[in-house]
Amino acid sequence: MVVLTVVGARPQFIKAAAVSPLLRESHREWLLHTGQHYDDELSGAMFRDVGLPTPDECLHVGSDTHGAQTGRMLVGIEAAVVRERPDMVLIYGDTNSTLAGALAAAKRGVPVAHVEAGLRSFSRAMPEEINRVVADRLASLHFCPSEVAVQNLAAEGIHEGVHLVGDVMHDVLSQWLPVARERSLVLERFELQAKQFLLATVHRAENTDDPERLAQIIGALGRLNEPVILPLHPRTRHALAGIDIPASPSLRVVEALGYLDMLRLEEAARLILTDSGGVQKEAYWLGVPCVTLRDETEWVETVNAGWNCLAGADARRIAAAVADWRAPATQPPLYGDGHAAARIVELLRSP
Ligand code: UD1
Repeated sequence: MVVLTVVGARPQFIKAAAVSPLLRESHREWLLHTGQHYDDELSGAMFRDVGLPTPDECLHVGSDTHGAQTGRMLVGIEAAVVRERPDMVLIYGDTNSTLAGALAAAKRGVPVAHVEAGLRSFSRAMPEEINRVVADRLASLHFCPSEVAVQNLAAEGIHEGVHLVGDVMHDVLSQWLPVARERSLVLERFELQAKQFLLATVHRAENTDDPERLAQIIGALGRLNEPVILPLHPRTRHALAGIDIPASPSLRVVEALGYLDMLRLEEAARLILTDSGGVQKEAYWLGVPCVTLRDETEWVETVNAGWNCLAGADARRIAAAVADWRAPATQPPLYGDGHAAARIVELLRSP
């Protein structure tokens, strides 16, 4: 069978790294990179770090408004669908590349398989939520990372082709953590001692595109009494250029990191503050407490387990969450067993 895989943004390179090598053992894959992420730190370095095969095609769409960016992707993906005549289009997550892949395939009558199906924040203010809802509506195979995701689909009347497979990011972490421990010199490079610093990431549009929220978050990070390291997504770097940030002795801003360095930092951090979905899960799997810089999360199980707490962009809530943290006594296994990709490839073969 021919599978056309659409990726475009950093988390999709990580997720596809779990599936593509296995897929290629028994199917022909055409790997299409939309070019949504184009900076080496978000794209090239990620491919290299997680061993994702070189894309067969890149559309180089770059950054633009949602409409223009998604529109350019649609044109390019449709052309690839017509040319490569895939039996299935495989999409990941919730980015504009996910949406464009789903739309282009569905309009050409090609079945869509969605990895990370069924997640909901129930906030239509997030572009990602709109992308997820549309992708799940159009997909015929839904690979869910959690029982809650299966229930979310059921609540929308989606019952067919729904499979609870676990989370492919768990597969990738299990595979690459030992390599990160061996190869990454990031702690030495930043002169950090394990468990004596906090790690923060901020990149979501709801935080970066609202100067007040962004200033609150950065201000709160700068006032914490422990060293905080903040690898910066280019989107956040652009947004911060317009904001007056008070100097802080504890907040250290560094460039966006590769996957292996990021894993190493996550594991060594005392606590993680983030608005990323993937980082919330990685914190959980690594047994590191997480404070989520959002008002809601799709990964509700980590909150229910007591390892994640929602602090929004409120400086006082962020400071209190960091200060009051007590690690729970137990850590139930969440989001599968590290073999989600094998299940996905098996189901693609016999849906
Ligand atoms: C996208 C996803 C988000 C995901 C994130 C991971 C959507 C709607 N959002 O957001 O779900 O969590 O990727 O990183 O698809 N930029 C660069 N260099 C790059 C890419 C982006 O400088 O290589 C800057 C540009 O200023 C651009 C901005 O980031 O305008 C936003 O890029 P966008 O394509 O919306 O993606 P992300 O914000 O990264």
